[in-house]
Amino acid sequence: MIKLGGSVITDKTRYKTLRTDVLARLAGEIKSSGKDVILVHGAGSYGHIIAAENELQKGYLRDSQITAASQVMEDVKNLDLDVTKCFNGAGMPCVSLPPSAITKLQSGKLNELDCEVFKEYLDIGIMPVTFGDVCLDSERKFGICSGDQLMMRLAEHFKPEVTIFCTDVDGVYTSDPYSNDDAELIKVITQDVLNKLPRTQHCADVTGSIFKKIEHMLNIAEYSKAMVINGLVPGRLKAALCNEEVIGSRVECCNERN
Ligand code: IPE
Repeated sequence: MIKLGGSVITDKTRYKTLRTDVLARLAGEIKSSGKDVILVHGAGSYGHIIAAENELQKGYLRDSQITAASQVMEDVKNLDLDVTKCFNGAGMPCVSLPPSAITKLQSGKLNELDCEVFKEYLDIGIMPVTFGDVCLDSERKFGICSGDQLMMRLAEHFKPEVTIFCTDVDGVYTSDPYSNDDAELIKVITQDVLNKLPRTQHCADVTGSIFKKIEHMLNIAEYSKAMVINGLVPGRLKAALCNEEVIGSRVECCNERN
């Protein structure tokens, strides 16, 4: 299972800016690995900007959010269409499974997701693709379903050989690598390491900080080899998929995997 983070496939600072070249290269790396993949992608600047302006992650607060929610759903579907076009064009047949249609949250947490539909597509050689989206929430009317929540649920169900998160940095650092020159890459992350990390990193994302992501990954590590790598560096995704040594952060849960 792979998540292409929004910071990799889009320029997160500029509304609806796709990194077409990066996306095409990553599609090529996935194809040439020869692996069966479930693909999840983030929303990047197609989702976070409008979602944050309108506090969509809090659920229904006021009527003006409804137009914003529907705008984000349109924008992330457009992003997803570009993603699926790219993979189809690269010779990897794929299908889009939008969370707004197939999932339901309960107080912001992913509740309903039919994993069988992913399996049925995989079985006929079509790669399922899903993504961070706005979707229904049984308590708050609507909410944001992050790609990381989808990864967690799908990993629990499918127990993939490897679960890879592609971001725009080499992995998880001791502090924000963009603002601290002395930030060090953490090669192995465990619950203990997470507990000791300073909670100072700034985060503009509506779906949470790096800490939330690591918590999801610690859960995933119970079922699958889990890692964070840099999707902007050519070759790393393919190497990770092919079980080769790659610069990044491995996430290890305390319990032994069987
Ligand atoms: C965000 O999904 C979804 C919306 C803001 C609509 P993600 O949390 O998975 O996206 P990225 O990877 O951070 O961009």
